[in-house]
Amino acid sequence: MDLKGKDYIETADWSNEELEELLRVAGELKDDFKNGRPHRRLPDKTLFMLFFDKSTRTRNSFEAGMTQLGGHAHFIDSETSQISHGESPKDMGIILSGYGHGIAIRHDLFPGEGNKYLREVAEHAGIPVLNMQCDIDHPCQTLADLMTIREIYGSDLKGRKIAVSWAYAPSYAKPMSVPQGLISLMSRFGMDVVLAHPPEFKLMPEIIEKAEKFAEENGTKFEVVDSMEAAFEDADVVYPKSWGCIDLFEKPEESIELSKKYKDWICDDKLMKIAKDESIYMHCLPADRNNEVTDEVIDGRQSVVYQEAENRLHTCKAIMALTM
Ligand code: CP
Repeated sequence: MDLKGKDYIETADWSNEELEELLRVAGELKDDFKNGRPHRRLPDKTLFMLFFDKSTRTRNSFEAGMTQLGGHAHFIDSETSQISHGESPKDMGIILSGYGHGIAIRHDLFPGEGNKYLREVAEHAGIPVLNMQCDIDHPCQTLADLMTIREIYGSDLKGRKIAVSWAYAPSYAKPMSVPQGLISLMSRFGMDVVLAHPPEFKLMPEIIEKAEKFAEENGTKFEVVDSMEAAFEDADVVYPKSWGCIDLFEKPEESIELSKKYKDWICDDKLMKIAKDESIYMHCLPADRNNEVTDEVIDGRQSVVYQEAENRLHTCKAIMALTM
């Protein structure tokens, strides 16, 4: 399968077979890394990493991953580049295409902006554009999540249930891209998906439609409920995390104020008992400890958050190795 030059902007742009190939290569690269075998699949290649937002896992997994693949990754802060003076995505895409082999972008803060920006860069760039999180999807995170779930339950996920739930967090109005990415991806790989949120914390309607369509096409289920308890019932995977109110991303303090009504949306031991006993707790991190989730749960026997974070490295290396 030749994926060289292909953009990775939303998992929905890739077929199930292409995503399987990413997971296969991620597994190979994980094995190489764990066993200390060199795996320089991208010697002398350059990745440009452009950030409009902060990051720990994404920046470091791409940067370390590129070094391990034999290439180099440049960090670009949008604030200290000419983008802050208005340089266009078209000019930036064409110019960086002349210098290297891939452009990775994080642009996730405002609904309606990031995905559009990535697609505009991709239209003009002659090298692949990789989505390090936009307003619509976080396809590097959800691929690592799928890899983690399959490591635990095996690759046949038919009949397994994932509960994707909103949770309270006072730190900032978190993007909607992780829950949106999860509900768009997991039903394609056999899982029944249940989404829960308070009424004001809806996801983008077009993503809900996409999740319904994928579930129908793949013979799985997708439903929306209004409480964490309803979502967690008999779940194999629980993924509670916060996101901002879709209408208030321009006024994040109002979104946080509104979310205070739902401080009881916290993943604690009592809630975990509603899910299956052997269920796993997931979070993309960073988590607001003792707001989104209690220490007992995130540090407890069911939590796989560090395995999940580690798989960010192996999956982003597979994305780079196959597309660049
Ligand atoms: N999960 C995730 O994308 O983490 P960072 O924001 O630290 O990159």
